Amino acid sequence: MIFLAKASEIPEGERKLVKVNGVDVAVFRQGGRFYALNNACPHRQGPLSRGTVEAAAEGAGCFVRCPMHGWRFDLATGDSNGRPANATVYAVDQRGEELYIEI
Ligand code: FES
Repeated sequence: MIFLAKASEIPEGERKLVKVNGVDVAVFRQGGRFYALNNACPHRQGPLSRGTVEAAAEGAGCFVRCPMHGWRFDLATGDSNGRPANATVYAVDQRGEELYIEI
């Protein structure tokens, strides 16, 4: 596991771009939970850390919409809702105030 960030660096509803082992990782905090995705959109490498976060109705997940061409990805799974490629997600392990990921 590799240190990612301190939880307090990412307030609720915010995101942060972190470089881990040379990989740009977009970290989001939504609903008290942390999500980490490869920042490069699988379509044409748009920066997901600058995307718009959307919550589904009735608590059915959170999504980020790529700022380049609008593909939408599930923050938890990277699922692209039928597009040709999914986003790469990394499991976040929260240990107290510190966040770690395996990459
Ligand atoms: S680069 Fe993300 S939708 Fe095209």
